[in-house]
Amino acid sequence: MTAPTLAITDSDPIGASADALIIGTLAGPDGLTLAPGSAEVDSAFGGGLVDLLAAVGAKGKADEVVKIPARGAVPATVVVATGLGSSSGPEEQVTAEQVRRAAGAAARALAGTGHAVSLLSLLDLGAAAQGTLLGAYRFTRYRTEPGDGPVGRVEFALPPGVEGDPQATLKAATAIASAVNTARDLVNTPPNDLFPESFAERAADLAKEAGVDIEVLDEKGLRKGGYGGILGVGGGSTRGPRLLRLRYAHPRAVKKVALVGKGITFDSGGISLKPPADMDQMTSDMSGAAAVVASVVLAARLRYPLEVIAHVPLAENLPSGTAYRPGDVLTMYGGKTVEVLNTDAEGRLVLADAITRAAEDDPDYLIETSTLTGAQVVALGKRTPGVMGEDEFRDRVAEIARATGEGGWAMPLPEELRGDLDSKLADLANVTGHRWGGMLSAGHFLREFVKDGLPWAHIDIAGPAFNDKGPWGYTPKGGTGLPVRTIAAVLADIAEHG
Ligand code: BES
Ligand code: MN
Ligand code: ZN
Repeated sequence: MTAPTLAITDSDPIGASADALIIGTLAGPDGLTLAPGSAEVDSAFGGGLVDLLAAVGAKGKADEVVKIPARGAVPATVVVATGLGSSSGPEEQVTAEQVRRAAGAAARALAGTGHAVSLLSLLDLGAAAQGTLLGAYRFTRYRTEPGDGPVGRVEFALPPGVEGDPQATLKAATAIASAVNTARDLVNTPPNDLFPESFAERAADLAKEAGVDIEVLDEKGLRKGGYGGILGVGGGSTRGPRLLRLRYAHPRAVKKVALVGKGITFDSGGISLKPPADMDQMTSDMSGAAAVVASVVLAARLRYPLEVIAHVPLAENLPSGTAYRPGDVLTMYGGKTVEVLNTDAEGRLVLADAITRAAEDDPDYLIETSTLTGAQVVALGKRTPGVMGEDEFRDRVAEIARATGEGGWAMPLPEELRGDLDSKLADLANVTGHRWGGMLSAGHFLREFVKDGLPWAHIDIAGPAFNDKGPWGYTPKGGTGLPVRTIAAVLADIAEHG
């Protein structure tokens, strides 16, 4: 997809002869109002803009986009009013996330349009830019008739007295949004084209472009290294598993951060086969892998003063004559043994190997993310990732996740659940014998492989990684690109505060 071109305009934005002029609306306590900064547009309409918009049904609610012809009131052809929702606080305050979503909804509504000018930047330039690029995303590689392209060019009005360097704000927003869109592309690519080997090739291309080092362990290398979890899960497919290691290091790195992401390119459940309904959505079971690859590339692009090393276990979970079985015992990387009671709990097995390997680099922090459990969706729904791990770092990650707008909620690892992973013959079983606290017992399983004393966070994105409903805000149907913005923000926070 070609992304829209973004720019900042110094000249009078309202006087621009664009195809569309984007303004924000608010759902005030007394009905529709205009977002701060739109007063001049209102004057151009003789003070009647609210009435005009209300006449065609505008309420200012989130995800509402109303277009009215300008008919010469301003040089733009149409005025596009995008709803911010209700303001929080007395002075029509809106959050960055409200701006991001409103910009995303407007960008979706402007597909096929050449040139738009946006006043949303008067509220928050970075959020307006990010929302525009995220909302304009479409995945059309597999359509012979791709339809309307994204809005071509969006110019942002420069807020008066803006803090910092607006060009730098635009650049960072663009880099972050394009990393999210890279992750989305990977998630949306079907598993007949995206399997461990081809994923590795794409990751290598991305790494090369950004000056990130990459090493790829193939099956032979995995066998030599003793990666029993990855080999066990990948054994049922003719497309063999891989383990990627991507490394970016700033010459004056203040901290070293390990990233791990689950890369099951398709999860059928294996011999413990899943039911057919929605099995197609298991093409998104590599969303964690996509996010960490995009994040290490982003860290390099933005030159974070960090060392960031991503480990990405890739496998296809299929049933066959060579597949691993319920009842098998796997010897994991590092030597621990695991009794497989359910081949559909495969993510934790490939992750265990990768987490053990990641600790050998002696990182200061570990962030791991996966579409790990259906129980996450049951507990927190489709839009809120569950965050587990070492108490302090877990809380820090969850709070940052909410600040980015991706959401995230700290979840416990209750001690009494650990015993339910005891195995009758190995060190550990891969599932408990019951369905209670499924997200948490998966977290417990991972904890067994985290080096003592390493601050770590596990982000379960089973629901949030993939949008199987209609688009909303800046979130398209399909891969959402979570939790790239959370990881980026945590990395930025570590770079700043250690
Ligand atoms: N990839 C699934 C988890 C998942 C479910 C992701 C729904 C996205 C949406 C994972 O490998 C899995 O199958 N987990 C099992 C674990 C169970 C066997 C303990 C689950 O959640 O049912
Ligand atoms: Mn599974
Ligand atoms: Zn899975």
